[in-house]
Amino acid sequence: MKKILCIGAGYVGGPTMAVIADRCPQYTVTVVDINEKRIAAWNSDDLPIYEPGLDEVVKRCRGKNLFYSTDIAKGIKEADIIFVSVNTPTKTFGTGAGRAADLQYLEKTARSIIEHADSDKIVVEKSTLPVRTAQAMSRILHSNTRGLKFQIISNPEFLAEGTAINDLMNPDRVLIGGLETEDGQKAIEEVAAIYANWVPRERIITTNLWSSELTKLVSNALLAQRVSSVNSISALCEKTEANINEVTAAAGKDTRIGAKFLKASIGFGGSCFKKDILNLVYLCGYYGLPEVAEYWEQVIKMNEFQSRRFVANMLAAMFNTVADKKIAILGFAFKADTGDTRESPAISVCRQLLEERARLCIHDPKALENARLDLEDAEGDITYCEDPYEAVKGAHAIAVMTEWNSFKELDFKRIYDSMEKPAFLFDGRNLLDADAMYEIGFNVYPIGKKAKTHF
Ligand code: UDX
Ligand code: UDX
Repeated sequence: MKKILCIGAGYVGGPTMAVIADRCPQYTVTVVDINEKRIAAWNSDDLPIYEPGLDEVVKRCRGKNLFYSTDIAKGIKEADIIFVSVNTPTKTFGTGAGRAADLQYLEKTARSIIEHADSDKIVVEKSTLPVRTAQAMSRILHSNTRGLKFQIISNPEFLAEGTAINDLMNPDRVLIGGLETEDGQKAIEEVAAIYANWVPRERIITTNLWSSELTKLVSNALLAQRVSSVNSISALCEKTEANINEVTAAAGKDTRIGAKFLKASIGFGGSCFKKDILNLVYLCGYYGLPEVAEYWEQVIKMNEFQSRRFVANMLAAMFNTVADKKIAILGFAFKADTGDTRESPAISVCRQLLEERARLCIHDPKALENARLDLEDAEGDITYCEDPYEAVKGAHAIAVMTEWNSFKELDFKRIYDSMEKPAFLFDGRNLLDADAMYEIGFNVYPIGKKAKTHF
């Protein structure tokens, strides 16, 4: 019975280990974290993260071959394979502040591995890291004075929040990078053998360490670039009466382009896109490639432009003032089916509206707690509403920030009747049927399409 340990019980480590335990009953999987509250939540009925399907998987395995604990030392001692999935946020201080990855948690984790290990281990990087981090990891781990040997493997995670369980159960690919030595290849095979329990072999790709580390950054950068590309064109559509949905549907039919990830929006959020692109930008600068750095940085600039443009459109439509007007914010999570609000464009939209002295009422089915934390230091009039009908009552405008399906089922006639007139609807996700909303009486402002107004 192989013993797997995961250090870091977050959005990545939590679901990933649950699925490994579920698909590999012959392994014992332990997840440890320094955060006691988080571990207690993983051991309770109220898991610390919301992810469709996660509860069932955890319930099936917890206490059988899946364990959550704060005893990091014991976990390290017993493990054959250690996955490291601690957070690697953007540095906020010193060299590379605002761009480079902050690797202090990773280094602390490596040091605690050498402190507690008493046998050779495979250490798997699950966290997204700058390319060549494995080299630093290896040097730290091999600074141990007991002659212990560690093989570093890069096995980046490609799950998206909201669909994590399906992404893990049926991945497009599993990527495993290792050193091109005999021991490195053996370690790759050991990690591949875990996934081979449920992933077809042809989907398990093996590469050298550096390709694997870089692929994670590149995958996220390419995805984010698609969103920024589409969002940039949405601005042009609004000026020219082209319709972004028609444009992307037609362009996406070209199999070389493909239909996915072409939805115009208020902008991308989430813990990874911005962080990983900044990381890429920093690396390019570090390696003396300023033109490449600038090229990728533009993806982030376009994303920031999109949310500024959204607020500017709101202001212009509402007679150039939102001061003292109530605005209902529908959705705060960075996308549907998650309570995660990290880098959510809703944060920046709300802050801009507060600067304009709007009164905000925020509703989200899963993310209200996080919204409160995100806007803790924001000055102005904010209320948080569990009930969407309460949130919109007496509002001058609705701004849709997240594409929750539940919003489509709301009674918009009732909502319209309870609002101030003229009633404005700014749909940052093109979620609602603009024609139907216009018929009800709203002045509708979708993304990348002509506004439909009664003026
Ligand atoms: C993290 C990284 O942010 C991401 O880049 C990577 O791809 C996967 O891991 P996520 O799981 O979303 O993503 O982060 P988070 O939810 O913050 O979880 C990290 C956990 O590690 C936290 O629960 C934290 O308490 C824990 N941790 C952090 C440790 O156990 N030890 C540490 O030293 C630091
Ligand atoms: C992403 C990657 O998809 C995943 O592979 C990686 O492991 C982590 O980062 P995640 O951040 O969970 O996953 O969400 P994702 O579905 O990629 O969406 C990111 C952002 O882009 C969201 O804010 C989403 O609303 C936005 N988006 C996505 C669009 O605006 N338009 C699209 O067409 C797709």
